[in-house]
Amino acid sequence: MLDKIKNILAEITSFSANSNDELESFRLKFLSKKGLISDLFEEFRNVAPSEKKETGQKLNNLKQSALEKYNNLKSVLQPSGESDTVNDHTRPSVPTDLGSRHPISIVRNEIIDIFQRIGFTVSEGPEIEDDDHVFTKLNFAPEHPARDMQDTFYISRLSLEDSNPRDILLRTHTSSVQVRVMQSQKPPIRTISPGRVFRNEAISARAHCIFHQVEGLYIDENVSFADLKQTLLFFAREMYGSKTEIRLRPSYFPFTEPSAEMDVSCTICGGKGCNVCKYTGWLEVLGCGMVHPAVLEACKIDSKKYTGFAFGMGIERPAMLKYRVNDLRLYFENDIRFLEQFKTAF
Ligand code: PHE
Repeated sequence: MLDKIKNILAEITSFSANSNDELESFRLKFLSKKGLISDLFEEFRNVAPSEKKETGQKLNNLKQSALEKYNNLKSVLQPSGESDTVNDHTRPSVPTDLGSRHPISIVRNEIIDIFQRIGFTVSEGPEIEDDDHVFTKLNFAPEHPARDMQDTFYISRLSLEDSNPRDILLRTHTSSVQVRVMQSQKPPIRTISPGRVFRNEAISARAHCIFHQVEGLYIDENVSFADLKQTLLFFAREMYGSKTEIRLRPSYFPFTEPSAEMDVSCTICGGKGCNVCKYTGWLEVLGCGMVHPAVLEACKIDSKKYTGFAFGMGIERPAMLKYRVNDLRLYFENDIRFLEQFKTAF
């Protein structure tokens, strides 16, 4: 019996387990009711009384060693309490810090949503563009001041003597996306193009060299200025409230004729006059007009058959009005204290 105890003790001492399964086999072999140590306690009954004391002590030590080994290995394999917490479905969850959408994204999504409801699709295009899509196809004259370095960020400017001049630049408006749509799709076209645009402006509270636009384009047979007005009125009332009034002032863009700028009744004072609308009662929100036939022709759309309207607006300004942000630079600084304030909006 003493020999058996010695051998089992040696086996227990040298045992090591790499997995819970191995540890469980250890428990079954040595510590379970049908295990070896249990058997020894059975055998112990038959030990001669003179040997009972020594054998009993050794047997108890053996059991103690086996238990210690088992508990040590268990704590190594499963760090204390882990299995319990993993399986405890009543335990409060670890709090997750939710992010917030950028105010520009919130307002952009709102604008997209309004136009999607009346059948406009969303088109996107490259921010790095060529002169052809940003200016030439949109009827900008070769010497138009918008092409000037003072307005446009050029990436590479090729000489005009080049047989295939192709200036590469950062787009100054997302009308370039509309050119791409007109070149690749057949009317009817009804699409909006949201995106980031770049102009070489000095950065201040009211101007930035990066800003965001949503431009819209609708081309079909018999599209009229009345369609444009009604679409914009619908947009203005969805965006700024059902009592909003609009007014159109004549304007000029090379790619539309006639062209107009749209004002909405001031969203702050409702048209009575306040310091936001500079006591005029109106806020300027977008440019628009009927697509110039030269633009349609440049994009291989028959201008005798089709007419269209286009409009374009910045996103920063309506977002400033909506959230009473008084400095444009806040949109680009990514200061978490600013961004966190939009957690409840989406
Ligand atoms: N592209 C013009 C801009 O960036 C906006 C505009 C779009 C005006 C379509 C008229 C028609 O200012």
